[in-house]
Amino acid sequence: MKGIVLAGGLGSRLFPLTKITNKHLLPVYDKPMIYYPIQALINAGIDDIMIVTGGNYAGHFLQLLGNGKEFGLKQLNYAYQEGEGGIADALSIVEHFADDEPICVVLGDNIIENNIKQAKEDYEKQGKGAKILLKKVHDPQRFGVPELDGDKVLNIEEKPKNPKSDFAVIGIYFFDNTVFDVIKTLKPSDRGELEITDVNNHYINRGEMTWNELDGWWTDAGTFDSLLRASNLIAESGANKMGEVKSANK
Ligand code: G1P
Repeated sequence: MKGIVLAGGLGSRLFPLTKITNKHLLPVYDKPMIYYPIQALINAGIDDIMIVTGGNYAGHFLQLLGNGKEFGLKQLNYAYQEGEGGIADALSIVEHFADDEPICVVLGDNIIENNIKQAKEDYEKQGKGAKILLKKVHDPQRFGVPELDGDKVLNIEEKPKNPKSDFAVIGIYFFDNTVFDVIKTLKPSDRGELEITDVNNHYINRGEMTWNELDGWWTDAGTFDSLLRASNLIAESGANKMGEVKSANK
């Protein structure tokens, strides 16, 4: 399985912080934001990773991460997204890298407390289709929200005014290689983007979507409030679970 970290976008919800660098390089407690999704993949046993970025500060990623030595990686791969076409558009450019393997996609501003190893193993047993991870939240309107019927997810609505559950679809997804054909059929949403929620609804309509509930805390970090919350959560959880990076730094 290959890992993809999506780290593009203009980060306009964080202006003026993002006028001088990419959102995913801003500090979350004691590390740049992008360290956390990279470590989440590595902790799940996924070490063939591509970072997709865009905008004006793509070079900053190379300066910061290089070949990923700090994470114990031999190599890190990079791709550049032209324009602001959205999450599914960013994903479309990793088709060659995925090379027919399944992928685990992590949004670069999503931070989790625990491990996604179990979800990864469950998805591998599943063999095809897709898997999403859900977390109960008090503000589902901000996210993709599933309508559930027991174990079954019936559909997902992106930022609904009247959410059909109090779960958010978090920004970690497992897809088989048909995802690239799905993306080719998508039309831009009202916000002019190819939506990851539309990708997920394709898999749901095909009857090939499963979900796990994430244990431990989860937050995004793409707004002032959630960026602060992310730093506080990391600080409070005993300076986080990134032991590997810490010891590599010594
Ligand atoms: C994106 C997705 C949304 C998901 C969220 C998780 O939203 O579109 O479905 O719940 O990430 O962080 P965005 O942050 O791009 O508004």
